[in-house]
Amino acid sequence: MSDKTPITRLTIRRPDDWHLHLRDGDMLQGVLPYTAAHFARAIIMPNLVPPVVTAQQATDYRSRIMAALPDRMSFTPLMTLYLTEDTDPEDVAQAHAAGIATAVKLYPAGATTNSASGVRDFEKVRPVLEKMAEIGMPLCVHGEVTDSQIDIFDREAVFIDRVLKPIRKKVPDLRVIMEHVTTQDAVDYVRDTPKNLAATITTHHLIINRNNLLAGGIRPHYYCLPVAKRERHRIALVQAAVSGDPRFFLGTDSAPHTDPAKLQPCGCAGCFTAPNTLSCLAEVFEAAGKLKALEAFTSLNGPAYYRLPPNEETISLVKGDPVTYPERIDTGAGPVTVFDPGFSLHWHVEA
Ligand code: DOR
Ligand code: ZN
Repeated sequence: MSDKTPITRLTIRRPDDWHLHLRDGDMLQGVLPYTAAHFARAIIMPNLVPPVVTAQQATDYRSRIMAALPDRMSFTPLMTLYLTEDTDPEDVAQAHAAGIATAVKLYPAGATTNSASGVRDFEKVRPVLEKMAEIGMPLCVHGEVTDSQIDIFDREAVFIDRVLKPIRKKVPDLRVIMEHVTTQDAVDYVRDTPKNLAATITTHHLIINRNNLLAGGIRPHYYCLPVAKRERHRIALVQAAVSGDPRFFLGTDSAPHTDPAKLQPCGCAGCFTAPNTLSCLAEVFEAAGKLKALEAFTSLNGPAYYRLPPNEETISLVKGDPVTYPERIDTGAGPVTVFDPGFSLHWHVEA
């Protein structure tokens, strides 16, 4: 049922971001405050160079994140380990038991930014996956095949059939998160799977389709992976996000690259949405007549799937004059353009 009286103020539990790229060094320093301003926790992607593979690397990266956090802010990074064909099941289990690693991240080799160390032969990582199933440790999955024969717009749907279904059949107790889903196919697969499967949805995939990326000129700041699909897929994502179904929750995939790295003949994939994500989401949920479902998507469904308590604190979103946010931010690594939703935002996160 739709919201009846117009809502102009919404108080929700403090959100978490279940898929976030913070990078390292100057970039980390520059982008972290934007996430920490609104989010209590985030699942931190391990695709650094070199990737975060071992428990020790995750511990060190976590310390660098905490050192980059401005004094007055509080934020909890939930670390992930990058799955390689050499990953040791015992190392993973120990890192989980010690609270160092919340989840493991599976990148098919070559799927996206810094994924060269990812998995080529899925049989080789089966012992790790079996161990994770045994201890209840979640697997975050970048769900795209990397086969150059497969059209880039089909890579997610093909991954489900060729890789994810077989893995889930062999290791049915493995708790999987299909990340940044972009297709009706993925939404249907998650919806039709009663157990041990959930999906994150990004802010930008709820807003842009492939026309926004390509029609009338190529827009590098909308290029991300998985690439935005047709409008019917975007609509399926919005329906899933606003449905309240506990298997869908926010993972922004905010993925900063400097403008020089984006604006070149072979530019990097990633949309930097951390500064305006919540304002964007409020617009999307309001347009769907489902503002009251925002809290489940941003603040309740994720913790429930990860078996963590939801945050006790709250934030308020207030509707008013257009929100101002920087077109780009300056980091020590260079300028980073902020995601432009293409419409004005009216929902402020109250200070
Ligand atoms: O657009 C993306 N950017 N997708 C990914 O999977 C990786 C990310 C990045 O690290 O830049
Ligand atoms: Zn990502």
